[in-house]
Amino acid sequence: MKLFLDTANLDEIREIRRWGVLGGLTSNPTLIAKEKPSDIETYMKELCAEVDGPVSLETTAERADEIFEQGLKLAQVAPNAVVKVAMTPDGLDAGKRLVEQGIPVNVTLTFSPAQAILAAEIGATYVSPFLGRLDDVGADGMFVLREICQIYEAQGYETLVLAASLRNPMHVVEAAKAGADVATMPFEVFTKLVKHPLTDAGLEKFLADWKKLEAQVKEGV
Ligand code: E4P
Repeated sequence: MKLFLDTANLDEIREIRRWGVLGGLTSNPTLIAKEKPSDIETYMKELCAEVDGPVSLETTAERADEIFEQGLKLAQVAPNAVVKVAMTPDGLDAGKRLVEQGIPVNVTLTFSPAQAILAAEIGATYVSPFLGRLDDVGADGMFVLREICQIYEAQGYETLVLAASLRNPMHVVEAAKAGADVATMPFEVFTKLVKHPLTDAGLEKFLADWKKLEAQVKEGV
């Protein structure tokens, strides 16, 4: 399972890239708006340049023709750009046309196995089920993800399952167990993945013992 960062913040991208685990990036209009870029296209180029992997850039038009035109432009932003379209009839229409142009498409705002079947049928590169948002409304996001993975396996669909809206490390672990191809998560979840109190305590003890040893050696004890 590849790990993607869900952000539009350059410092966060650089930090996770430094760990050697950054497989790609997902952004959305809310995340980009949070960064208040003065020139949106230049900023998107910067985001793509920071990532050695696919970067999802979302369309914001509502009608199929406009989504398609916007998607063509977003695909030109960088060679690693992936065009996000929403799971709507117009999004599917435009998405299918983008796929036919050879452009990688990510069908976003997917909340059910039925919707995920549609994303696979248009030949999208990714389908993004939003787990956390399902949990937020009292549904079981992980159950939906498992069903999607099971259907894709049974049908031999090539669309990759990108588990999105992940809110905690267990979401990531369970997504991996379910067979998701990608997990995208905010910076905060990445930082929680790496943390364990026993790692901190173990490291503290190792370093203290080492310092003690060095001091003894120095004193010739
Ligand atoms: C994924 O592509 C989305 O940007 C993201 O996972 C949404 O997450 P949220 O529900 O935490 O906003």
